[in-house]
Amino acid sequence: MEQTETDASRASMHPIVLRPELPIDSIICGDNCDVVGRFARESIDLVVTSPPYDDLRTYGGHGWDFFGIAWQLWRVVKDGGVVVWIVADATKDGGETGTSMRQALHFQQLGFRIYDTMIYEKDGIAFPDANRYQQCWEYAFVLSKGMPKKRNLIADRKNVSFGRTVTGTDRNRDGTTRESSCKGNPIKEFGIRWNIWRFNNTADNGKRNHPAPFPEALARDHIRTWSDEGDVVLDPFSGSGTTVDMARELGRKYIGVEINPEYVESSQKRLRQQLLWS
Ligand SMILES: C[S@@+](CC[C@H](N)C(=O)[O-])C[C@H]1O[C@@H](n2cnc3c(N)ncnc32)[C@H](O)[C@@H]1O
Repeated sequence: MEQTETDASRASMHPIVLRPELPIDSIICGDNCDVVGRFARESIDLVVTSPPYDDLRTYGGHGWDFFGIAWQLWRVVKDGGVVVWIVADATKDGGETGTSMRQALHFQQLGFRIYDTMIYEKDGIAFPDANRYQQCWEYAFVLSKGMPKKRNLIADRKNVSFGRTVTGTDRNRDGTTRESSCKGNPIKEFGIRWNIWRFNNTADNGKRNHPAPFPEALARDHIRTWSDEGDVVLDPFSGSGTTVDMARELGRKYIGVEINPEYVESSQKRLRQQLLWS
């Protein structure tokens, strides 16, 4: 991943012909830089997406431009909006490429905060490697434009100490201790989740005509957390349409962009079937 152009020159490579209306509640077939490049600035509340990881899979051989789409996301996301960028590295010549981290740092250079480096932990392993501990997780970088405006944090982590009261001490910066300010408070049954989320990544297998969909629950929980009903959720690499399906299910407006016509057709078909049933 080499950066060869400045963001300003990139902007002129993808001239913006703005469309007054967003293509709300649809999946568009095309290159995401071209399609998203037509959206008005600050028009999107949330992006939940997963780009191709290095050259691990080909998806029909279509190319994509990291710097172009990163710049477009910075342009179209609203102040207080969030991009959840789910990504992992290939291993080449015995070492990890580090592409994911370089991408996160580029988003930071554009102005996004790296609000949280979350981990999506998987049950199944896609590329077993006998030479190292099995790679069982991916990054979920939560990138925000300013502070995230929507933070509906999910509190479903069972507290092992539920039923007791807070005891003990807090530690001062100099290493000394003081009595906990919460001492005596009852411990709640559930606390806010930690930032490693584990999902069964094979649960939705067979439902989707795509080699690498992410779990529905991963998309659903990020959408619940970082947006409210009626918000606009975009996936510029929509693949089988997981984000789009979950956004619709949660009462958000949705836009998917996918370059491979086969995936567009099957995800649009799924969407039509769901609309008929709902
Ligand atoms: C990792 S997959 C996304 C899978 C998706 N999250 C799901 O659950 O099905 C990445 C997708 O990006 C698509 N893609 C690659 N280059 C693209 C481009 N320039 N514009 C839009 N989509 C692109 C690929 O065809 C592939 O379906």
